[in-house]
Amino acid sequence: MKISSFGQNFNQYSGITQLMNDLNDLNEGIRTPGTLMLGGGNPAAIPEIVDYFQQISEEMLQDGELISAMMNYDGPQGKNSFIKSLSLFLKKTYGWDISEKNITITNGSQSSFFYLFNLLAGKQPDGKKNKILLPLAPEYIGYADTGLDEDIFASYFPEIEILDNRQFKYHINFDELSVNDDICAICVSRPTNPTGNVLTDDEIHQLNKLARENNIPLIIDNAYGLPFPNIIFEEVAPFWNENTILCMSLSKLGLPGLRCGIIISSEEMTQVLTNLNGIVNLAPSSVGPAIANRILHRNELLHLSEDVIQPYYAEKAKFAVDLLLNSIPDPKFRVHKPQGAIFLWLWFDELPISSIELYQRLKARGVLVVPGEYFFFGQEVFPQHASQCLRLSYVQSEETMRKGIQMIAEEIANVYGAVLVPND
Ligand SMILES: Cc1ncc(COP(=O)(O)O)c(C=O)c1O
Repeated sequence: MKISSFGQNFNQYSGITQLMNDLNDLNEGIRTPGTLMLGGGNPAAIPEIVDYFQQISEEMLQDGELISAMMNYDGPQGKNSFIKSLSLFLKKTYGWDISEKNITITNGSQSSFFYLFNLLAGKQPDGKKNKILLPLAPEYIGYADTGLDEDIFASYFPEIEILDNRQFKYHINFDELSVNDDICAICVSRPTNPTGNVLTDDEIHQLNKLARENNIPLIIDNAYGLPFPNIIFEEVAPFWNENTILCMSLSKLGLPGLRCGIIISSEEMTQVLTNLNGIVNLAPSSVGPAIANRILHRNELLHLSEDVIQPYYAEKAKFAVDLLLNSIPDPKFRVHKPQGAIFLWLWFDELPISSIELYQRLKARGVLVVPGEYFFFGQEVFPQHASQCLRLSYVQSEETMRKGIQMIAEEIANVYGAVLVPND
């Protein structure tokens, strides 16, 4: 079979594909029973949320709305009724100057980023090649291989603030950051996957200024942010203006199987995205927007996010951090301050093996994590720090977390111990 350059570009076993395969193998019972999945990005099945979705689906089945959503195409911009309710909700809640002309629905945020990056970056009509600036790497693994052109990212290593209690926090290094002629957009995830970092309001305002001064958009990946699902443990303000492209998703609200992404952007960008949606998908999926619309109409979106989802994850994150710090006493181990999202970012300073090797050793023992190296794409010089970090999901049951963290602690003790002995 002969495949095109496009085909070759996408016919690779990327980090994100490996991750999703691991997750699927586990869901389908293909992997060794008992494997502990601390790698994937599936949200938790929060009992109250599961009951809520059950109840709302039954209600919508009864009144015909679910079947209607399943049996009809929406327009290429996405379900009009949902777009209208959401724009009114955001206008009322945050005072943003938006209308139905600022929202596009996609089949999940992953597709939103595929669209946005390729609309903006890569080869331009004048032959120039443009890039997306990621001001703080580590950044979301799912962006890494989305480019139709190669090498569409330029990313920067952060400043590391050392905190008490063996924690640390990344900050954007604004002194280093430069927006060259080839930069066509700035993109950040906030809260950040993989680290659980939440960029401060000040960092966001500085990025907004930088974007405006350079006449490029600021893309904010709000998959875990405000107002939903609100997996965010810091007091920060949500952000949007005409120059911002804010990407949201129903996934971390608990509905990843519905594949629904939401892009809030300028009217001009909304039109471009709508045209693209028509060509690629005819229309985005209708079921997610129908359910989200019902939640909005019942006025329950904020309650679910603030009173159920946020406290659930905050407690789980705290449990996992305490467990990690108690189980791994080595002072070379630190954890990024958990400020949001569903992951913990572990840093093993002076780790004598690579994080990929650590991942393989842990996989052999039956615990899946994600090695740090995958999250530093777009760097000019690959940092040693990347090989000392790994990402851990903290959403599993307490029992799974205990077993998984115990195995990680044992392996880390082996790895550090193995080099200490010859030096003694
Ligand atoms: C930061 C971030 N952005 C985007 C996505 C993609 O989400 P979706 O399920 O909406 O495609 C994820 C999924 O884990 C994510 O963590």
